[in-house]
Amino acid sequence: MTIGIITVRDDAYHPNRRLKETAREKGCSLYWINPYHFRSEIVDGKLLINGLKAQELPDVVIPRQGALIGDSSLTLINQIQTLGIPLVNGLASILLSRNQFLSLQALAAADIPVLNTVFINRLESVQPAVEKLGGYPLIAKTVNSYQGKGVFLINSEKEADFVVQSSLDRAKGMLIQQFLQPQGRQDVRVFIIGGEITGAMQLLPREGDFRSNFSLNQQAFEINLTDEMKRIAVKAARTLSLEIAGVDLLIDIQGRVFVLEVNYSPGFKGLEATTGLNIAEKIIDYAISLKTNLKNHEN
Ligand SMILES: Nc1ncnc2c1ncn2[C@@H]1O[C@H](COP(=O)(O)OP(=O)(O)O)[C@@H](O)[C@H]1O
Ligand SMILES: [Mg+2]
Repeated sequence: MTIGIITVRDDAYHPNRRLKETAREKGCSLYWINPYHFRSEIVDGKLLINGLKAQELPDVVIPRQGALIGDSSLTLINQIQTLGIPLVNGLASILLSRNQFLSLQALAAADIPVLNTVFINRLESVQPAVEKLGGYPLIAKTVNSYQGKGVFLINSEKEADFVVQSSLDRAKGMLIQQFLQPQGRQDVRVFIIGGEITGAMQLLPREGDFRSNFSLNQQAFEINLTDEMKRIAVKAARTLSLEIAGVDLLIDIQGRVFVLEVNYSPGFKGLEATTGLNIAEKIIDYAISLKTNLKNHEN
């Protein structure tokens, strides 16, 4: 059994290293599919990847390029999907989750609680958005922020204009969002594989910051999820059709649970370190189960 990982990084990156060593332990071969090295081709009406023969194609592919995944990688993912190779996650779910506002649209439509958010694509929309959201402080963020990069606290019109002017890509747009201050707030990451919760942790914002990303602070501890958190996180992953998902929840001072964002290729260094769980093994086992399912399906 062969697993392909769509990534622009190598073994030096924690999830890649863990997935590779785990696949090896399970007797699977695993290779990196760098989307900039593999070509999608249509020749005589047939879809090919760099002339790879059918038997050389991976049995399952796991796209793990994060929020910055662009159209050219999505083209390769579509090629793979059209060839009938199982993907975790698939194209439609990546399209939704790589863009935070598209995710929020789908989540809100499914009655999943999300923070009040206005999408803007020009500077002139900042003040109407601020008014709609009840005034400062607010959050401004890019649609494809990652590791807290591209997430800003704005306290005044001057700050808002500065942030939006320097970060707005008109073609992509930005989010202006209600801000939950760190005091009394809980930041929770829920890891979901195949519709099941495999682990969870609470994260603390770093000193003097409001962002709790593990890559920024490394302050995390295990948490027992309430039934409501479980229900909302599982429903969020299902709504975006994500088989593997890192669901970020924010819980406000009154205990209300909101889905902040859902990641389609979540890192798991922090979760493994915090909980002692073997997340890499759960991902590889899930990928293996997909191949088996496909075989059963064909029989
Ligand atoms: N509206 C908000 N109110 C309070 N904190 C927020 C808000 N949005 C983001 N944050 C904080 O910033 C972190 C990063 O934001 P997030 O939207 O998850 O983007 P990223 O993709 O960069 O992780 C969150 O984990 C949270 O701690
Ligand atoms: Mg996040």
